[in-house]
Amino acid sequence: MTHDLTLPSGTDVAEGLAERALRDPHRPRFHFTSPGGWLNDPNGLTHWNGVYHLFYQYNPLAPAHHRIHWGHATSTDLIHWIDEPVALVPGTTGPDRDGCWSGVLVDDGGVPTLVYSGRHGDRELPCVAKGSADLRYWTKDRANPVITAPPEGVDTTAFRDHCVWREGGMWRQLVGSGIRGVGGTAFLYESDDLRTWRYVGPLLTGDAFQNQGELDWTGTMWECVDLFGIGDGTDVLVFSAWDEGITHHPLYWTGRYQGDTFTPTALHRLDYGGRYFYAPQSTRDEHGRRIMFGWLQEGRTDEANAQTGWCGVMSVPRVVTLSADGSLHQAPAPELTVLRREHVEVTPGPLTAPYSQLHAVRGDQLDIETTLLLAPGATAQLVLRETPDAVERTVVEVSREHDGTGGTLRLHREAGSLDPTVDTEPRYGELPMDPDGRVDLRILVDRSALEIFANGRPLAARIYPARPGEAVGVGIGAHGDVTLERFDAWQMASAFTDGPRPLWP
Ligand code: FRU
Repeated sequence: MTHDLTLPSGTDVAEGLAERALRDPHRPRFHFTSPGGWLNDPNGLTHWNGVYHLFYQYNPLAPAHHRIHWGHATSTDLIHWIDEPVALVPGTTGPDRDGCWSGVLVDDGGVPTLVYSGRHGDRELPCVAKGSADLRYWTKDRANPVITAPPEGVDTTAFRDHCVWREGGMWRQLVGSGIRGVGGTAFLYESDDLRTWRYVGPLLTGDAFQNQGELDWTGTMWECVDLFGIGDGTDVLVFSAWDEGITHHPLYWTGRYQGDTFTPTALHRLDYGGRYFYAPQSTRDEHGRRIMFGWLQEGRTDEANAQTGWCGVMSVPRVVTLSADGSLHQAPAPELTVLRREHVEVTPGPLTAPYSQLHAVRGDQLDIETTLLLAPGATAQLVLRETPDAVERTVVEVSREHDGTGGTLRLHREAGSLDPTVDTEPRYGELPMDPDGRVDLRILVDRSALEIFANGRPLAARIYPARPGEAVGVGIGAHGDVTLERFDAWQMASAFTDGPRPLWP
């Protein structure tokens, strides 16, 4: 049995990091973070007997990507999380001695079972672990790795991350990969018992040479593939387009999964923040909703991360649905509203000034909901985290085309921080609009974490004002004919109690 999953030798180190993390003014308060150290992808996402389980890529010993463990947290409301014992620790020997990389949790006839990528050297291979009834303790299978090599005769760029489901009395699995010189892919396998797998073939392969450098470039490898059905007869294949040394981003194909292949209809960007919503994973919860989390990477330097003792933020849980136009619509889970506190409403009406501060709305933990009506050619700006001298400010901009069709969502972070070492690159993407030019905006500001939803299109990012205590101003402005239909803002409470988080109960 491998129940000795605590970290006796590292506990002091982990506690030191957790204490240091608390002092960082950029640490979010209602987005999930690890107690300290490093966090990346969400893993093993499941709603099991009324409890949400969020596992994640975790290095408890340093805020750096090294010897990755599986952290674990539970929640009954998707918002308040309890830290659980570390679920997977890299072995001292065996196929995961250099890390327990991303994977999923499945229900194997009542037995919670993890399928993850064991890392050894620079190779990852599929491994399996069986859980205790409370999903706290995990026993790795003696037969690991359960697939001993990528498919024979294929020159692969990588082979890792898993999507596993039950179909026709069998298990099916996708492993993320890429075919050298061709593009990213997801290899399909089949099994009776999650231990012996038969290779079926590539489900779908991208073209690494198409749109190179563009925002919908599909990469040389697909990380964290996630296949699910949504709506009536649409299937979705989510993946994170990856390439050595190149900025990566999450994309999805809509189309039809049938037999052993996926026939795509369209390729879409999953989040306009690109790498700021990376390696997402989703699950269908017990209410039948498609819930998705992604990893909000840091936008500051490794040195800054090392100093603050923590890094990596989980997005808020998103509910994903299918829009009438065939793309995905994303919104924060409605449970988030339990954290809403003081409410301010701004009087509706035409926005006449190019800019005015909303003195009643201030803060760095905010939930804002607003509806704007834009005439053709009009632009509206919502300013966040502004210092009183306006030297630091982050701008969310929505604009409508002159011909009235569609628009653009933009995030300007160029003045977001005076700190020259943080990433302040702008972000943007297409904004679908009805003929009224209506824009429903939802904005979550959680210190350095920012998530924007504009007509269901998300944009996640990170912002690090150099004067965080002063950068609490909010304002609004317009160019052209813009009407404010509604504007509500709430102060958000913290989802975590103050003080260092105990290193699991
Ligand atoms: C995505 C990823 C996965 C891998 C894991 C390692 O961010 O690179 O492909 O399994 O992170 O931590």
